[in-house]
Amino acid sequence: MAGKIKAIRGMRDILPPETSRWQAVENAAREAFRVYGYREIRLPLIERTELFARSIGTDTDIVSKEMYTFPDRHGDSLTLRPEATAAVLRAVLENGLDKAAGVKKLYTLGPMFRYERPQKGRYRQFHQINCEALGSDAPEVDAEVILLLMEILKKVHLGTNRLLVNSLGCPECQARFKAALSQFLMSREGLCEDCQRRRVTNPLRVLDCKSVHCKEILKDAPVLKDYLCPDCAAHFARVLELLSRFGVTYEEQPRLVRGLDYYTRTAFEVVAVGLGAQDAVAGGGRYNGLAQQLGGPELPAIGFAIGEDRLMEVLPENLGQDDGKKVFLAALGTSAMDKAFSLLQALRQEGIAAEMDFSGRSLKAQMSLADRLAADYTVILGDRELETGKANLRRMATGDQQEVTLSLLPMVLAGL
Ligand code: HAM
Repeated sequence: MAGKIKAIRGMRDILPPETSRWQAVENAAREAFRVYGYREIRLPLIERTELFARSIGTDTDIVSKEMYTFPDRHGDSLTLRPEATAAVLRAVLENGLDKAAGVKKLYTLGPMFRYERPQKGRYRQFHQINCEALGSDAPEVDAEVILLLMEILKKVHLGTNRLLVNSLGCPECQARFKAALSQFLMSREGLCEDCQRRRVTNPLRVLDCKSVHCKEILKDAPVLKDYLCPDCAAHFARVLELLSRFGVTYEEQPRLVRGLDYYTRTAFEVVAVGLGAQDAVAGGGRYNGLAQQLGGPELPAIGFAIGEDRLMEVLPENLGQDDGKKVFLAALGTSAMDKAFSLLQALRQEGIAAEMDFSGRSLKAQMSLADRLAADYTVILGDRELETGKANLRRMATGDQQEVTLSLLPMVLAGL
């Protein structure tokens, strides 16, 4: 016999009833996006490799080790998107959305791909809820984006979590900080091989190194906050002031740099308690220079992405499990089954979830199916019910019964 084909390592099926929890999160996010004036954008899963190399940065783990990159049949280098921000910006510039007045607010949901070592909370195909606000550098927009993120997380009942914030400054602040950091790193022995290279090519990346030894060395490293220019410092102070005004608790994390090179000014992450090593459920920040890096005009922007897979691990089990009342119609005999089918469709037309069994099995078998489907109500149709046009509507949780006229069943159930 041929061997069974399995899903690719690091990629998984998300099955019912788990999918109801995902829908609950996505519905909550869509609702929050609506209230904050965001609109959905849908993008291809594959882009030119150059888009990600140019935006995320060639020294990052994502670009140097984790991309699914392949030549297409024509020989062009394509990549399964490891994140959405670069692709959103590509689409905005390509379609001229940047020319519209005001802040362009876009969100997109879907899978991303990174060739990482799979573990709890880390997959090779994972899912993000992505939010981007383009066209303003106002600190109010930073605050608004963070408020929106925290609101989504609250709506889905995320438990204890910490919002970590930092400012990475503008390119001038970063240049001064990089010089100081590089000098510090050059004077230290024992950095990992990657960081020995990065301390020259891209010292900010060293701050994001996961090696325990590098982390230890970094304890004495200079911090960005001390290198912010007055404008960047004022911008950050205003963001923090607004977060406080709206009751958002945050922790300043002076070494937070995030894993992508495009960030400027505000950067943030939300970590959730109870997740172990992969504890970041969302991350984001400003990327004021990215549009120009991609050949576009000046277009300051900020956004975030929520990692849905990780979020699911810590959300309440019963989230989204209440999908409304369900009715099961049991029927005995051909005419009753025929009548039940009409009734079934009438109920569905009313938006009531209804099921029946078409196989002509015994009443006992049908009732055990009703149990398995977790029906809230059952109706049994036999010859007597067809004659009188009435049947007993039974509420499963309590065993209570009420007699109803069959033609009125959809109306009665709609009112329950
Ligand atoms: P990121 O921090 O690379 O940011 O990813 C955001 C979130 O995606 C992470 O906090 C995590 O929850 C989830 N995530 C990342 N990699 C994996 C993985 N292998 N398995 C499961 N979950 C994962 C970005 O992607 C930026 N584009 C966010 C952004 C939007 N910045 C501005 N706008």
